[in-house]
Order: sequence, then structure tokens, then C-alpha cells
Amino acid sequence: MYKLYPYFTNDGSVGLFSPVADDIYHSTYGALTEAYEKFILPSNIKNYLKKNNEIKILDICYGIGYNSKSFLNLLIDFIYNETIYTDNNINIDEIYTNNKKLISSKKSVRNEKKFKVYIHAIDNDKNLALLSPFFVNGENINHRNSQLSFKQEKIQRMLSEKIIRKFKLKKEVNIILLLNLINQIDNDIIEILKSKEYKQFFDKDLMRLMAFLKSVESKYTFFTCLSAFLHNIYYKYISPSYKNALNTLKLLDFNFNLNISDARQAVKNDTQIYNYIFLDAFTPAKCPCLWTLDFFKLLYTHLDNDGMILTYSNSALVRNAFLNAGFHVGKIFSESANKFTGTIAVKNNSLIKYELSEYDLGLIKSKAGIFYRDENLNLSNEAINSIHKSDVQNSNLISSSRFIKNYKNS
Ligand SMILES: C[S@@+](CC[C@H](N)C(=O)[O-])C[C@H]1O[C@@H](n2cnc3c(N)ncnc32)[C@H](O)[C@@H]1O
Repeated sequence: MYKLYPYFTNDGSVGLFSPVADDIYHSTYGALTEAYEKFILPSNIKNYLKKNNEIKILDICYGIGYNSKSFLNLLIDFIYNETIYTDNNINIDEIYTNNKKLISSKKSVRNEKKFKVYIHAIDNDKNLALLSPFFVNGENINHRNSQLSFKQEKIQRMLSEKIIRKFKLKKEVNIILLLNLINQIDNDIIEILKSKEYKQFFDKDLMRLMAFLKSVESKYTFFTCLSAFLHNIYYKYISPSYKNALNTLKLLDFNFNLNISDARQAVKNDTQIYNYIFLDAFTPAKCPCLWTLDFFKLLYTHLDNDGMILTYSNSALVRNAFLNAGFHVGKIFSESANKFTGTIAVKNNSLIKYELSEYDLGLIKSKAGIFYRDENLNLSNEAINSIHKSDVQNSNLISSSRFIKNYKNS
């Protein structure tokens, strides 16, 4: 059976580890918090929603979907209570404590616009993407088991005892995703969902709803237990979250396209132009194929003139690749962490709030800025790394360590 390495991150949301990539999928600081702070808040999507009624998002490396989910969470808040967003200095804590009020009744809808929303989510791991609606949001976790069920000392060290809960994901978001993915959920996924090993990480309500939706399809016989079935009917008719999810879908023209393939191929075959592109690949050294100059040139052709690519990477070679692909490049600043936590790439320079500093530009011109290449968008990560290694070895540019030393002494 497909093996998962889940654990609870410091905000209570589930994070994953990949032994193959030897990398974490999500920050130990908080998987959900990371999605908000690195992708949703710096994108200023709420401002975009005020002015437009159509939005197209390309979620590259969807994984278990935190970036798309955080966007949907914000969108639901927006359509049910736009007025809360009229203040530019929005108080995020206030928004999230008011969640229940915002979606408690259809009467609270103040936004008359019907939004047309298209999300193109790409990942090459089918299982993760199809499991995405089922992960718990950690609300009921009071005493987190600090022992990981797998050996990973680096992660273990970074997990704190205290859960820092800043953002709350509405159940409606997972229900909306489930309704969109139900036809693709197969027996492999159900096997994983039923596994005792992962029990604490999956939301029972969503599993019951899935069982109900599958049972009414009547093709599937895996949940034949009568009591579960009756419970599902009960769930369907009384669950406020289910009703809210359906009401929300009525207010939207919503199209969610899950594309299971290599992101390079998926984007090559795509014809859409996006307002926002979330690039959330594993770190450049682990997954260089999604950080190359050539991939970024391809992304350029899919970004709206006022669109924005967002990524968590601060790497000089990533920034240099964006610049060489024709983008203007800026930084993402996290107020809570009081540091720069990522990079944005845009065509319209005026969208940049935090410019690259003299230091950043200097580093880009050193060997640290030598970017990855993959001219035909088909090389393996190993081949890209090996070309990069020889590019660095053959370069006459100043080394990054010398540049940093000179900079500090200047
Ligand atoms: C850092 S994780 C993304 C986390 C994700 N955004 C989330 O919210 O769960 C990186 C993801 O990239 C996917 N991936 C790795 N190589 C890929 C490729 N060439 N094309 C598409 N997806 C890829 C992995 O399956 C993994 O889900």
C-alpha cells in the first residue's frame, strides 16, 4: 500500500514528509499557516476579488492542497461578508474568530457578484491529491503526540509542544474539493483512508460523506454497513457544513481541474492565462526541474499582465531565473516572522511591494545566481543538477561566500 509520513505541524494542521525527496512537504511551523503567509496574504487576492468577478489560479505542486484550500477559505469569507475586507489594515484574527458568524446563514450574503473561479491544480502524485479533502484540520487535537511515527530527527526537533492556531480552515472547503474529486476516488484511496495507521489524520465526517456519495453512485459496494449508510443520509441532510458548501457552490461558477502529471508537461499542454500562479515545488536542489529558466519562460506565457507568481523560495538562482525569463522580481515579507519568506515574479512592476535589495542583487550576480537549465523541459532532476554543477564549476563569477564576505566588509 502507498505509504504516507504524516505528522501534526505546529499549527495543528497535518504536514507530510517524503523519504524519496528527503524533504518536507510543509513547514513544521504550520502547513496551513505557511499557505496563508507565503501564498495567500502576499497575493492580495482579496483586493483582486473586489475589482473582478473572474479568477484563474494555477496551483503547481498541489500536494494535499493547502494553497488552493486557503484560497477557497478566503473566497468563502469574501463572498459571505465582503464588508469585513473594506479596511485595508484587516485584522486576520478577527476574521477567523468571526468565521462561524460569516457562514452561519444564507442571509448573511452581502456580495451580489457571481464569481467565476477556475483552479488548475497540478501534481504528479495522484494519491496525495485525491486524499487532500480528508486531512483533519487539527481542531480537536489537544495533546499532540510529540513522538513521530517515523524516524526524522530534524522534524522532531522543530515540533513544539504548543499548537499555534492562527488560521482556521472551514470544513466547507474540504467538502467542495470532495464534491469535485469524488469521481476520481478509487479503491486505492479508500484503502489508505481505512488504514488504522493514519486514523488520527483523516476526518471521519468527510469519509462518511465520501461513503455516502459513493453509495448513491451505487457502483461501489465497499461501504455496505447499514448503520454507516444511515448515518451518511443523516449527515447529508443535516450537516450545516454540507449545506453551506452546496450554497457556496450555487453562488460560484466553480471549475476545479486536477491534473496528475509532470508540471512541465501539464503547463505545456495548457492554454489558459492565470491571475495567480502558486509554485510550491520541493526545494530547488531536490526538484530542480520546476525551478529552471526554461520552465519560468513557459510560466511567463501563462501569466496575465497583472498576474503574480508566488513561491516560498528566497534562492538567488530562482530569482535570477525569473529575471532572465523576463519577470520583475520582488520579495515576500512575513510580518509575523518579521523576515522575508519568499519571492514574487510579475510582469507589472507596480505590484512589487518589497524590492530586491542591493545585497540580493549582488548575490544573484555571484555563482549562487547560476540558474538551472532544461531547454526542452524533459530532463530528469539528476541531469539538471549535473549540468548545473558543471555550469558552476566552469563559471568565472565570484563565489557566494566571497561576495558575502566582501559585502559585510564594505
Ligand atoms: C512541497 S510539496 C507541495 C505541497 C503542497 N502545496 C500542499 O499544500 O500540500 C511538493 C509537491 O510536488 C510534487 N511534485 C514533485 N515533482 C513534481 C513534478 N515534476 N510535477 C508535478 N508535481 C511534482 C510532489 O508530489 C509534492 O506533492
